[in-house]
Amino acid sequence: MALAPMDGVTDPPFRHLIASCCKPDVTFTEFVSVDGLCSAGRPRLMPVLRYTEIERPIVAQLFGDTPENFLTCARLMNELGFDGIDINMGCPVKVICKTGSGSSLIAEPALAQEVIQATIEGAGDLPVSVKTRIGLSTIVIEDWARTLLEAGPAAITFHLRTKKEMSKVPAHWEVMHLAVEAARGTGTLILGNGDVKSLAQADRLVAETGVDGIMFGRAIYGNPWLFSRARRYEDISLAEKFDTMLRHAYLFEEMCAGERPFKVMRKHLREYAGGFSGAKGLRIALEEIDCADDVVRMVAPYREQYQTEVSEPGSE
Ligand SMILES: Cc1cc2nc3c(=O)[nH]c(=O)nc-3n(C[C@H](O)[C@H](O)[C@H](O)COP(=O)(O)O)c2cc1C
Repeated sequence: MALAPMDGVTDPPFRHLIASCCKPDVTFTEFVSVDGLCSAGRPRLMPVLRYTEIERPIVAQLFGDTPENFLTCARLMNELGFDGIDINMGCPVKVICKTGSGSSLIAEPALAQEVIQATIEGAGDLPVSVKTRIGLSTIVIEDWARTLLEAGPAAITFHLRTKKEMSKVPAHWEVMHLAVEAARGTGTLILGNGDVKSLAQADRLVAETGVDGIMFGRAIYGNPWLFSRARRYEDISLAEKFDTMLRHAYLFEEMCAGERPFKVMRKHLREYAGGFSGAKGLRIALEEIDCADDVVRMVAPYREQYQTEVSEPGSE
């Protein structure tokens, strides 16, 4: 059960918070450019690769299309103490794809294999994985899986949409088994990703498709307890949610000061602020915050009011 890489979301403070609430089996960093890391701009990118010990096993995700730079960066990830290296072959965003990186590599099977091989060469004893989509504009999961498998990655995560589909259609779980069958006997693990909301749903998908693991992305918004088998989201008290909001805000301030604008926190805080009457007002107020002390001030009256209550299903 893996936490997905999400640029601008699964940053070091959020990952730390998630690990402290209930750790996934494996955690991925936001993606980082190998070209950037191999340029004079490296110091500016290094904060993205910060992690804390409680997150282990922690995998660094890299993007690019230059095998030599993947080799160099794989060595660097090893020196930085990561537990694995993941190659992004799934990002559909224009600025990434126009450089030949992300999901554009699906159109360049030979180059994609070279990138994997170069990363494996530089990674030393670290496992190398790939996160990708199931095609460019049509579903080619089986052929694409076989191409990737030839290069011998330790794992492949399929986000079950094509590049063209972005995130606009439901994930195609009906084709997951094709990759699972292609990988049988190769030793490569297959993970599925897309629209999974709970561990219970993930367990069902594992049973139905035979996949080795599930990767969760957006379901983590506002729910750092997602990976807990002991506690359901409905069981988390409002008091704990408010405390978590404050802890998240202070963690962000402590770990990202001067590196990321505090307004990044607004979307996180909005996600926590639900399930009680007056939640909408708090969400609007949170649009104005600029520091953790602002959050304390905004949340204080609600925290006092709802000290002992759990969320009210269906309210705001
Ligand atoms: C805001 C955002 C940022 C993302 N950044 C990355 C990224 O850096 N690397 C990556 O491989 N995928 C990235 N993704 C894709 C997610 O990892 C995941 O594949 C996608 O959200 C589908 O899974 P979900 O339905 O569980 O959210 C991002 C998605 C979102 C919403």
